[in-house]
Amino acid sequence: MGKITLSIYRRDPAVEAEGKFVDYEVPTEDGMVVLDAVKYVETNIDPTLSLRWNCKAGKCGSCSAEINYKPSLMCKTRIDTLGDHIRVAPMGAFPLIKDLVTDVSANWGMLKKIPVFTPRQDVPKPWIIAQIDIERSKEFKKCIECFLCQDVCHVVREHSGTGYFGPRHIVKAASADMHPMDTLDRSEFLDANAGLGFCNITKCCTEVCPEDIHITDNAIIPEKERAVNAFYDPIAMIARSRRKKKEAKNNGKQ
Ligand code: SF4
Ligand code: SF4
Ligand code: FES
Repeated sequence: MGKITLSIYRRDPAVEAEGKFVDYEVPTEDGMVVLDAVKYVETNIDPTLSLRWNCKAGKCGSCSAEINYKPSLMCKTRIDTLGDHIRVAPMGAFPLIKDLVTDVSANWGMLKKIPVFTPRQDVPKPWIIAQIDIERSKEFKKCIECFLCQDVCHVVREHSGTGYFGPRHIVKAASADMHPMDTLDRSEFLDANAGLGFCNITKCCTEVCPEDIHITDNAIIPEKERAVNAFYDPIAMIARSRRKKKEAKNNGKQ
């Protein structure tokens, strides 16, 4: 059995203006993950340490943290890949509740704003859908809402004034937009209301996604292309202008 030094960020914002990293010595075992080590500290050294976890299987998305500066799931990060001094900090993109626990609730408000899946009414069920179309939207359904992609995104972290919703929310919109039975195009909403244009396709979000969702290539870039086609293509602009005029005329008649 070996041992590691775990540097864990500690702060209770209710009583402390500043936080600090506290070192703990933790015995290690084969196959140990960072969550095991942090739980060892909570159980054996300091029960006031706050952390959030549920499944310990990489599926609930609740044990997100910054491990050696990289946004990661504590339950999926093996100790033996990290060396003998490991730094564990809370996600920096979100307000701190205590120690390693952050408040990610702002994400629920953003998710509610995204227009929901709106299926065709003219196709009888059961729907028959080509497998290739199922795969496209299924990739996005793997999201476990860990918000690691939001945490790593420099626009979300450093330019909150842009109003950019962030990668998790583009994935959510894309999962509906790419469903073959959906009738809406959310790119207008993403462009005008969710700051899609502020993403500069650095792909950092894709690199940290524990579900290997190709966030940038399969969700963000296609949504950007849709937005460009719909709003900056001159023929589409004329078509949209005509459609709006027609809708206004029809509404005037009612
Ligand atoms: S690709 Fe876009 S959403 Fe992803 S981290 Fe970069 S700026 Fe953020
Ligand atoms: S897209 Fe990936 S990184 Fe982002 S919240 Fe979902 S699972 Fe987590
Ligand atoms: S505890 Fe559920 S994802 Fe880590």
